[in-house]
Amino acid sequence: MNDNRLIAALDFHRADDAKNLVAKLGDDVNFYKVGMELFYAVGPDIVRWLKAQDKKIFLDLKLHDIPNTVAQGLCSLLELGADILNIHASGGFTMMKTAADQLKLRAEQLGVARPKLIAITVLTSINETDWNDLGWQSNMTNQAVRLARLALKAGLDGVVASPREAKSIREACGDQFLIITPGIRPAGASIDDQSRIATPAAALQNGADYLVVGRPIRAAADPQQAARAIIEEMNAVG
Ligand code: C5P
Repeated sequence: MNDNRLIAALDFHRADDAKNLVAKLGDDVNFYKVGMELFYAVGPDIVRWLKAQDKKIFLDLKLHDIPNTVAQGLCSLLELGADILNIHASGGFTMMKTAADQLKLRAEQLGVARPKLIAITVLTSINETDWNDLGWQSNMTNQAVRLARLALKAGLDGVVASPREAKSIREACGDQFLIITPGIRPAGASIDDQSRIATPAAALQNGADYLVVGRPIRAAADPQQAARAIIEEMNAVG
């Protein structure tokens, strides 16, 4: 049983822990997210290892800096062969466009497949209080949609967004635009530090293409069973 729309987050400090989870999930999960926790601890070898296991990789390093630095950082990551890379949309249009253009150019020069480039809109952990403290003028959904439109215009392939904003983003950006949603919690699961969450089924119904799931699988007593329950719920949506 598997569903290629499920991306399991390998949020560990140690490569062995990540590899153990991949082994436990076996053929049920083919797509993994390597984020800053694992990458900063163990470096690029974990990405190469996942590729050697024939797994797809979302390298979630959320770059956010001046245009040239982000673009060149992505070009360095390109050689690892991840399927998805990401940057913060709040870095602005010029940063996103420079990044997309340079990544495409470097992939062509190297003769390798260009990874999808995705923008972070508003983190799923941000709640109303955090939002008000930041002092942005529009509400969270409008801001997420605004950033998604900007990402589309800059030539990016999609966004990471809360499942609660996926529907508005889908309407604004069309069917081809990828929407990846973290903040997934099966009914009754612990919310942890997330805020704008949804169940796997609701996220898909709202238009998500991929679901990123961390603690509900990783911290489960039986991760494989937890993954299977999520996959069943996803398959039932169709
Ligand atoms: O454990 P949990 O399911 O909350 O993990 C969600 C994963 O998705 C984490 O690795 C987190 O870094 C990532 N993520 C997120 N919100 C975003 C982008 C990525 O939660 N906007």
